[in-house]
Amino acid sequence: RRFLQFVGRATLVSIFGGGAAFYFFTQVDRNPGEQLPFDPEKKTVVVLGSGWGSTSLLKTLDTADYNVVVISPKNYFLFTPLLPSVAVGTLNPRSIIQPTRYITRHKARTVSVIEAEATDVDAKNKTVTFIDNSEIKGTTSSTTIKYDYLVYGVGAEVQTFNIPGVQQNAVFMKELHDAERMQRAFMDCLETAAFPGQPTEEVDRLLHMVVVGGGPTGIELSGELHDFLQDDLKSWYPELAGKVKITLVEALPSVLPMFSKQLISYTESTFKESKIDILTKTMVKEVKERSVVLQMPDKSIQEVPCGLVVWAAGNKGRKITQDLMNKFPETQTNRRGITVDDHLRMKGAEDSIFALGDCTATSYAPTAQVASQQGAYLGRVLAQIARKDGLEAELKKLEAVKAQVGASQPEEDKQKLEKDIEGIKRKIANFKPRPFDYSHQGTLAYIGSDKAIADLPFMNGNIASGGVATFLFWRSAYLSTLFSLRNRTLVGTDWLKVKLFGRDVSRE
Ligand code: FAD
Ligand code: NAI
Repeated sequence: RRFLQFVGRATLVSIFGGGAAFYFFTQVDRNPGEQLPFDPEKKTVVVLGSGWGSTSLLKTLDTADYNVVVISPKNYFLFTPLLPSVAVGTLNPRSIIQPTRYITRHKARTVSVIEAEATDVDAKNKTVTFIDNSEIKGTTSSTTIKYDYLVYGVGAEVQTFNIPGVQQNAVFMKELHDAERMQRAFMDCLETAAFPGQPTEEVDRLLHMVVVGGGPTGIELSGELHDFLQDDLKSWYPELAGKVKITLVEALPSVLPMFSKQLISYTESTFKESKIDILTKTMVKEVKERSVVLQMPDKSIQEVPCGLVVWAAGNKGRKITQDLMNKFPETQTNRRGITVDDHLRMKGAEDSIFALGDCTATSYAPTAQVASQQGAYLGRVLAQIARKDGLEAELKKLEAVKAQVGASQPEEDKQKLEKDIEGIKRKIANFKPRPFDYSHQGTLAYIGSDKAIADLPFMNGNIASGGVATFLFWRSAYLSTLFSLRNRTLVGTDWLKVKLFGRDVSRE
């Protein structure tokens, strides 16, 4: 009887607990309280970009301290680590994005989110010019605003090295539309290969997928492509199963140079089992409509027919970044990106521009992990700066009072005023924000066949691990890194749907 009573109570508690949690998420989360309005007395922080760095900053920043304006051509945050899963239809595109307004509406003060592309930063006059480059234009599509502090987080763009045909004939793996485009092109290759009477040679060409770049993007994408072929092609296109070929082309002697030798060999042997060909020391020289031109290790040139080329050969700085750097010819000389000091202040514009993430040239790798830690750090630094600005304003007021003090004022009051002024001056002098300190949490990569590799820094050494357990760790790590409960739910549901029903092979 006691046991039944316990079960009854536990059930009631779970029902009420679940109900309360549901109420909290639907009412409190969906209807946050009123926000403070813009305050002309406060300084303005303009944030460029809505990627890893800028979004992490927005989450940390106390907007009660500032007026905040976010400018980005995408009005959402994209969870890039799961982008290859979208490209093969494992995940729905909407599951890995989060509207920026979803974050800003929970902030203390109203944040202005503007969907636009910044085209110029005038560091002297502290202004940003931006344009509306969306399809629908109003009567105004370009404007300039002032900032007190600029957080520059525009990321990077795809590096094509001006190799002929890349821009026209390859698909990229950087933005959401790239993954969607790849999925459409990939499905088109399958459907065209399945067209009745297609000659065998043409079927082989259409079903040859070439991935360029053996960095983590190229590896993860090849792994995801293999999963699709393994899990779904056999059931949906039995006549094509076994005919699809994946080739990964890498210019360097090995793939994944950032991982340990052991994990590189693990990846290579997994790819071998998965029948993914890795061509190292091989450079893509041209991408044609129906083929790819390769320079082989012996320097000979080979033209290989293929249906799809995915370009994952790295990134370079954006034009706006280069233009901004050109304004500081003496301090901004690193071709990889913006040089910042150890407080993320742009060299040459230390008083007002902070830069973070892939647009900077630092000793860290251009990763989401670095960008998000930098964003959180900047959020804290800006809070300290706001406190310092507040103290300076208070000091100004007290010094004005001191200037008015007459001889008739009691000595005691004068001494107190002097003491207050000295106290504030001391606090201002003590204002020394700590430099940015990156804490590496490890590197994970999915390699297909429900396997992942991980370089984890524990106990002063790297723990290198690969396999199914690592895959489960990879999934749970990414699930917990997703920025919101909404995204976690959507991604979790997509994984479950694929397990139950397979991937959706319809082509938009
Ligand atoms: P981004 O996240 O690229 O954000 C840049 C923002 O600036 C975007 O919102 C963009 O729309 C906006 N923008 C662009 N131009 C302008 C402009 N002119 N004006 C205003 N805004 C502009 N890293 C990891 O650590 N782990 C991973 O597993 C991982 N997986 C990845 C998988 C893929 C497929 C890719 C492509 C990258 C992956 N990365 C990963 C790398 C990671 O995504 C980047 O290092 C990270 O996005 C950098 O953050 P960021 O804020 O500098 O730039
Ligand atoms: P990358 O720069 O790491 O790799 C690109 C690769 O393409 C290089 O190895 C390069 O040698 C090769 N390449 C360039 N031109 C070529 C050509 N013409 N022919 C053949 N090969 C060519 O780029 P990637 O993979 O997009 O990664 C970018 C950043 O994002 C990195 O810092 C990476 O660490 C990070 N990232 C991390 C992930 C993870 O941790 N799981 C996943 C994806 C990206």
